[in-house]
Amino acid sequence: MAHLKIHPTRRLNAELQVPGDKSISHRSVMLGGFADGETRITGFLSSEDCLASLSAMQAMGVEIETIDRTSYIVSGRGGKLRAPLEPLDCGNSGTTIRLLAGLVAGQPFTTRFFGDASLSRRPMRRIVEPLTLMGATLTCEGENMRPPLTVNGAALKPIHYQMPVASAQLKSAILLAGLQTPGLTVVEQPEVCRDHTERMLQHFGASIRLGGRRVEIYGDTTLNGKNLHVPGDFSSAAFWLVAAAALPGARLRLTKVGLNPTRTALLNVLMRMGAQIKENVECTDFEPYGTLRIEEGGKLRGTTVSGAEIPNLIDELPIIAVAGALADGQTVIKDARELRLKESDRIATVSRHLREFGVDVEEQPDGMIIHGGNPIRAAGVESRGDHRIAMAFAVLGLFADGESRIEDTACIKTSYPAFEAHLEQLMAGDIAGKFRIGAGLVSGVKRLVKPKTERMPAQNTKKRQK
Ligand code: S3P
Repeated sequence: MAHLKIHPTRRLNAELQVPGDKSISHRSVMLGGFADGETRITGFLSSEDCLASLSAMQAMGVEIETIDRTSYIVSGRGGKLRAPLEPLDCGNSGTTIRLLAGLVAGQPFTTRFFGDASLSRRPMRRIVEPLTLMGATLTCEGENMRPPLTVNGAALKPIHYQMPVASAQLKSAILLAGLQTPGLTVVEQPEVCRDHTERMLQHFGASIRLGGRRVEIYGDTTLNGKNLHVPGDFSSAAFWLVAAAALPGARLRLTKVGLNPTRTALLNVLMRMGAQIKENVECTDFEPYGTLRIEEGGKLRGTTVSGAEIPNLIDELPIIAVAGALADGQTVIKDARELRLKESDRIATVSRHLREFGVDVEEQPDGMIIHGGNPIRAAGVESRGDHRIAMAFAVLGLFADGESRIEDTACIKTSYPAFEAHLEQLMAGDIAGKFRIGAGLVSGVKRLVKPKTERMPAQNTKKRQK
């Protein structure tokens, strides 16, 4: 079984470009395949999750030409997908199954979706309810509305829907169905969650109106194929941000990373914990991206993470818990019950694994209380098939008192196939000093010949306030 051996590190001085954003990559092939005309995608994340979406769109008749591992040309079907000949395998990907369920709800055919053991435990009730209200027929074969899921598409009617949970996958499923529904579909979110679908729909020319927690879409409009660049995934960058922020003297520069504000709440959390992070927005296309810099890592202090902040850092909570373990004092994570419904029950898994590393943690129904700042004991833990658990505890291992081992790490390929290569180079940097890592680079340490100059004028450099 794939595993990672992690050695403690005392130095980190790196420049890194993380691979493309997972959420945006999924949406790029879905909307590109649905739109009219050609969509050229660069920066695509060719991870297992996103490739599941790409294959599903191909199975529904979309032609996709591969330029290289991160660039594709998608020939859109102008709103008319083809019935897939076989059930669609969504692998481990909740985004694939929930968003595509919305997309096929308005198509005149039946689609069956299935996935791996983890996906087969994820709740589908949240999308079944609104899509049924819109007129589609959805049935789940798993107990308590779990996959496999079959969607019988229909001519849809618009709804005004109050979302019971702040879930971007739920919001997106409704918007993708609303896109094919004559009239006005309205979605209200309990808290604002990631808005990639809204931004991309706007980019493709949909009639969509955004206002705080409310999103409105006028259906029955044609999307037009567009070129788009997928920026680096902030959620992948998060692992290195926490490593550098918590390591005294560490320096880190992350380039071309997505800086959509509905994703970057971790920056505010790390600032509250005492980190100094510089954020430089260099591109404000439909999705903003730029450079993040930590000039000097240091000792962190505990904080509370709760409320409206949660949806904007939901995928970062395992690595925030790791930051809490490394910080002095108490870190409280609350209002995060959704975390129990991810690729694993992340509240239970994180709490159990932190204890293995010698951390004092109290598991709560909606989060955890971490008493941090004590020495980290080297440990062996299992990913439970959850990519973010594997990567978060690999980072904690860098701070332990000996060699740690993370078991069952094949799942990392679902979101960050280059993680291990980047980690190896990071650990090599402990010996080699300054180095630079390119996205997708598999081996070898590139020396920085001379420091890169900043691309943006100083006034665009925003230092986040504590
Ligand atoms: C995602 C939304 C989030 C996140 C997931 C990706 C998306 O889930 O956890 O990894 O791409 O829309 P929610 O639907 O629970 O917000």
